[in-house]
Amino acid sequence: MEKILDLISKEVKSAFDAAGYEEELGRVTVSNRPDLCEYQCNGAMAGAKKYKKAPIVIANDVAEKLKESVVFSSADAVPPGFINLKVKETFLADYVRKMQESPKFGLEEPTVRKKIVIDYGGPNVAKPLHVGHLRSAIIGESVKRIARYRGHEVIGDIHLGDWGLQMGLIITELKERRPQLVYFDEAYTGEYPEEAPFTISELEEIYPTASGKSKEDPAYKEKAMEATYKLQSGVRGYRALWKQIISVSVSDLKKNYENLKVSFDLWKGESDVHDIIPGMVTYMKEKGYAHESEGALVVDVKEETDTKEIPPCMILKSDGASLYNTTDLATIMERMEKIKPDEIIYVVDKRQELYFEQVFRCARKTKLVKPETVLKFLGFGTMNGKDGKPFKTREGGVMRLETLVEEINTQMYEKIRENPDMSKEEAKRTAGQVALAAVKYGDLSNQASKDYIFDVEKFSSSEGDTGPYILYTIARIKSILRKYAELGGNLRTVTLREASGSSEKDLMMHLAGFQATIESAHEEAAPHKICAYIYDMANAFNRFYHETKILTEEDKRKKSGWIALLLLTENVLETCIDLLGFSAPERM
Ligand code: ARG
Repeated sequence: MEKILDLISKEVKSAFDAAGYEEELGRVTVSNRPDLCEYQCNGAMAGAKKYKKAPIVIANDVAEKLKESVVFSSADAVPPGFINLKVKETFLADYVRKMQESPKFGLEEPTVRKKIVIDYGGPNVAKPLHVGHLRSAIIGESVKRIARYRGHEVIGDIHLGDWGLQMGLIITELKERRPQLVYFDEAYTGEYPEEAPFTISELEEIYPTASGKSKEDPAYKEKAMEATYKLQSGVRGYRALWKQIISVSVSDLKKNYENLKVSFDLWKGESDVHDIIPGMVTYMKEKGYAHESEGALVVDVKEETDTKEIPPCMILKSDGASLYNTTDLATIMERMEKIKPDEIIYVVDKRQELYFEQVFRCARKTKLVKPETVLKFLGFGTMNGKDGKPFKTREGGVMRLETLVEEINTQMYEKIRENPDMSKEEAKRTAGQVALAAVKYGDLSNQASKDYIFDVEKFSSSEGDTGPYILYTIARIKSILRKYAELGGNLRTVTLREASGSSEKDLMMHLAGFQATIESAHEEAAPHKICAYIYDMANAFNRFYHETKILTEEDKRKKSGWIALLLLTENVLETCIDLLGFSAPERM
């Protein structure tokens, strides 16, 4: 379906044409004075110079041509030369009815179906997920769902941090504690045990311990670097141990992400490209892209137009070890070979922006990607506590994601349990849904690049611009629909009809903006646009609801029209929250 604004613009454009003016002047925008009109066109002002006429004269000529329009109930020329527009109720109802009948509410398929890889999540194996990882998961998941709904082929890749020094640190600490483990016996040639010699909680305790030790003790750090080297060069026991660290850690990660309704198509990691790094390095050397600098291998990526210093991209350290850079470049190479994406989007902390600038430039310069391949960095800001500093536990430690989610779940449960007609089970399930909505909406309603304050109380309030408010609105609509059916109404046969009041018309106009919202949320990788859209829609619905006695309406046709409007509103809201990555309970 054509977007409503395009249809409206078309009508005004042809009026400009009919009045003898250039068509392009007829572009329409949503009114910035909703008290005066719904849409407006400022083309007469722009045309004044060209036609050497006062804007109001042009506006009058055009308004005259719009008198008979099937689209507008009024088109008024007002000084100095605006054209104020109101759409006809019938036109709007036709449009919204068509939305209801069309797949995806009339959202058109993209002209080109792109293949998009989204690199998000990015947890590090054996390190507990902390709230910093929350944003990447929440934003990435939503960006992925939006792109997919928009009609593109989308592949989400978690890109595990499973290859660097942190692995060497863990192995070193295990060796200190249990040197007798068979993995450390270099003469051993048999099979390694299937069972891992540690649990997830032990693993999570080991990493911080090892990392602390290595900061204080250079000899320990040396050992960890050696262990990393041994692992990367394929020492059997180290590889076997590493595989077990991954497997224990990944099953824990899967559980965590599942609780967040976040899922990945690919569970690849930095280690997966290990074997293709030597080939990539040779290629970069042979083509003359990479050169040696103080023993290290680098690719210069600065450009003449740079206003700030962009350091060279280091491919190999002087000891020949690979870096974070190296694995990211090799991953790009692998993705281009195996997946052939048109676009790769990275959802990563914005503090890594410069790093990604280097990587992208290097990938282009060395022709790992095609000139037209889009590499996009979607950097997000920090999640802060109420004190404006990075979010911590009450004791000041690093907040684990699991703990945070559990705390909010419990709070919600306490609140919901007050409802006496809800079984314990339903209350639990509902609490889970509301808590997830609170956390995700609280995050996504901010522009991703901005820092924001994680305020559980505010996010979990059922009033204001929050996830629970949206869920309440959906639950309210569902309850009306249920009652309508209980009273013998048939939800399948209801039909939308033109609005009879202003709040009803307003709700329809919001619904009609669905396509434009999804398109721009996708193009700008901006889930906050969907949040703003559904918040406005929930408000529009609630205004309508408070003004209208829906279920007791005598006029059957009117009532059926309203129910149809509610159905559509509910469907659109539910589709939108699914794109944000949460769902609504039947009742609250
Ligand atoms: N593991 C990294 C970290 O915790 C994030 C990975 C981001 N993605 C990437 N392709 N580099 O900082």
